[in-house]
Amino acid sequence: MTATEEPLSPLPSFPPGFLWGVSTSAHQIEGAADRRAPSIWDAFSAEPGRIRDGSTADTACDHVARHREDVALVRDLGVDAYRFSVSWPRVLTTGGLDFYDRLVDELCAQGVLPVPTLFHWDLPVEVQERGGWLERDTAARFADHAATVVARIGDRVTRWITLNEPAEHTLLGHALGEHAPGHKLLFDALPVAHHQLLGHGLAARALRAAGAREIGIANSHGPTWPASTEQADVEAADLYDIILNRLFSDPLILGRYPDGFGELMPGDDLAADLKVISEDTLDWYGINFYQPTKVGAPGTADVEFSGLTLPAELPFSVREIEGHPKTDFDWPVVPEALTELLTGFRDRYGDRLPPLVVTENGCAYEGVDDRERIAYLDGHLRALHRALEQGVDVRGYFVWSLLDNWEWAEGYTKRFGLVHVDYTTQVRTPKASYGWLRDALRAQRASRA
Ligand code: FCB
Repeated sequence: MTATEEPLSPLPSFPPGFLWGVSTSAHQIEGAADRRAPSIWDAFSAEPGRIRDGSTADTACDHVARHREDVALVRDLGVDAYRFSVSWPRVLTTGGLDFYDRLVDELCAQGVLPVPTLFHWDLPVEVQERGGWLERDTAARFADHAATVVARIGDRVTRWITLNEPAEHTLLGHALGEHAPGHKLLFDALPVAHHQLLGHGLAARALRAAGAREIGIANSHGPTWPASTEQADVEAADLYDIILNRLFSDPLILGRYPDGFGELMPGDDLAADLKVISEDTLDWYGINFYQPTKVGAPGTADVEFSGLTLPAELPFSVREIEGHPKTDFDWPVVPEALTELLTGFRDRYGDRLPPLVVTENGCAYEGVDDRERIAYLDGHLRALHRALEQGVDVRGYFVWSLLDNWEWAEGYTKRFGLVHVDYTTQVRTPKASYGWLRDALRAQRASRA
């Protein structure tokens, strides 16, 4: 949007009880690195050349020290819920859970629903040293972590997320080596997918045993568009679509892997594992959506794409989507792809599909007068509303992110926040988009009063 355009018209009304929230993750905001065990992201960011600006998340947004101020920003925004993650490495240190105890207390005191994610990519180094998610035992250890956390904060937390984006953690962290732990295993990374899913199932059991009733997962999804109608492009896009949009959700929702993938998974008894993964483990399904992907037949050379190097030996290649605005990450802004994604989930899974929640959606732009972010959020909320009109059961929407933060391999170079963070002074400045969302939520409430 340019400054000369008309102000946006009010958003359509969302159903009563629709859950509005903002998301963050532990490693990206907390800081206080000296008060947690080392994670794979500490190790990864210590390796030269891994992080675009050479930074670490040792301080990040200093959120551990400033969490009261940050919770006040959430409250004043007027959202219902705050999605954060619990750092497993912090939980491993004596007193580490005290922080989450205080954070949950503060959220409850301010009338904000706490929505913790139990794993958002920051595996403890000591677990990685035993093989990490390539090892089956990590699933059991993750369930122990879930049991420890629910025992401490489960009296005040009703809504849980087990894993964040197991798809990206498998692809970027273990197949392509662009994220921690930096493995380039290509298809040999598939055990990481299976063990995370098993970890989800075992963690869900631990949460259920402690009385949890609202268990979800947050995975990344997006429509896949073939680069052309040529058979080679369509086949490559189909394979990419299975990996991104079905490899995790089919076992969770249908209790089976897409054709051809079950045989590639580790373990002695796949049927038993699939029961653990799918039986009573989901009350709702979280979708993180950023962009659609255009995919074609493999090329002959490596491709550079949004900061990633996609090797030529992959059985597909990712192509540029033209004709849409781009964010600072070079991700195309295509709100209608969110409608397509949500209706596509409903069409694929029908009655088996649990209620959906958009657990992340947002964009990277510089500046506090962030009109582009307003246009992005406005467009995506209208696209979500169109899915509601078409009968898709979507129960909530969380913006990524409350604060500018440490964006993984991009370091501090990409700003996703509704609130600007000055990383030198730690001063928080709400951006124009923060005010826009606050006013939009007020108008939603007023339209129902
Ligand atoms: C998602 C991650 C989140 C953040 C956004 C931009 O893939 O879950 O931590 O990095 O992308």
